[in-house]
Amino acid sequence: MPLTTAEEYRRWAGREALGSSPLYERLALGVAGDGELIDFLSGLPPAKRQPNLLFAATRLVAGTPADYPQFRRSVLDHREAVAATMLSHRTQTNEPARCAALYPVLASLPQPLALLEVGASAGLCLLPDRYGYDYDGTPAGAVDSPLRLRCRTEGDSRFAGPGAISVVWRAGIDLNPLDVTHPDDVRWLRTLVWPEQRERLERLDAAIALARQDPPRIVRGDLNARLGEVAAQATPGATLVVYHTAVLGYLPEEGRAAFAEQVGRLGCQWISQEEAGVFPEVSARLRDEPAEAGYVLALNGEPVAFTALHGGRVRWLPEPSR
Ligand SMILES: C[S@@+](CC[C@H](N)C(=O)[O-])C[C@H]1O[C@@H](n2cnc3c(N)ncnc32)[C@H](O)[C@@H]1O
Repeated sequence: MPLTTAEEYRRWAGREALGSSPLYERLALGVAGDGELIDFLSGLPPAKRQPNLLFAATRLVAGTPADYPQFRRSVLDHREAVAATMLSHRTQTNEPARCAALYPVLASLPQPLALLEVGASAGLCLLPDRYGYDYDGTPAGAVDSPLRLRCRTEGDSRFAGPGAISVVWRAGIDLNPLDVTHPDDVRWLRTLVWPEQRERLERLDAAIALARQDPPRIVRGDLNARLGEVAAQATPGATLVVYHTAVLGYLPEEGRAAFAEQVGRLGCQWISQEEAGVFPEVSARLRDEPAEAGYVLALNGEPVAFTALHGGRVRWLPEPSR
């Protein structure tokens, strides 16, 4: 049975906000026990009731609240503006730190690469070659980049000590591409960063500044509808990599299955970074690995690591014995 909105908020407080944002944890628990706020959310389509969307929309309309009582007043005093913002916006959090998990897998593939990210938001994960990385003190990537992404790693892996990557083509697909040169889009991207996370905000600002120098092309549309046509534009001879983070969970089961099938037909490399369960056949290959909060990183359907939701940590999985 699907969870009620109150249960969703309680679950989100414990699974996502706990340990990451004390304010969002308090807000989510507050909403879960607040009949008036649950009524407000019931007036919105189910896909628009998510905690992240409610909290960011309220902050965009009325600023960041100090506590739950101030938050509920903001929602109830500005209910029309908050609802309108939730209806006109999507959770499009774009987290460049997720590239630190993608980079070693990209570096393991035959170079040069043609990158196609579905659900690219503003395209900040389309620039893995423009960032520097620090894996437990070992540098990689663009060492002179103004943005250095630190990542803690655990587990031995064939992906440790990644070499260089060479990107000759890149494109994204998104239902609603965000534009790093547009102030409203940048404001929304910044508001999607959780309140106490100054480091994430600084990282986002640095990645936006880098992206502005040469913004990646992002095609508007549904990923299943446009994948074939955009993939066909990739530079011939380069390794085509189709990848995504925190996207396929937004699609119904049939949409995810259709996507996996399409990717298979393309004969490309496929990197998926999604919550366990988004692709049950990928999760099934985790075998006895203890489940972790965060994402499962998989290469061509084979899980290779558990990764943190907003980057910064990778636990490599043992290579399956063949
Ligand atoms: C949570 S954001 C993640 C952005 C980026 N992948 C990252 O990890 O930073 C999810 C993105 O997927 C996009 N999206 C969701 N469903 C989509 C679909 N069916 N087709 C294309 N894009 C989609 C949303 O518009 C949003 O920009």
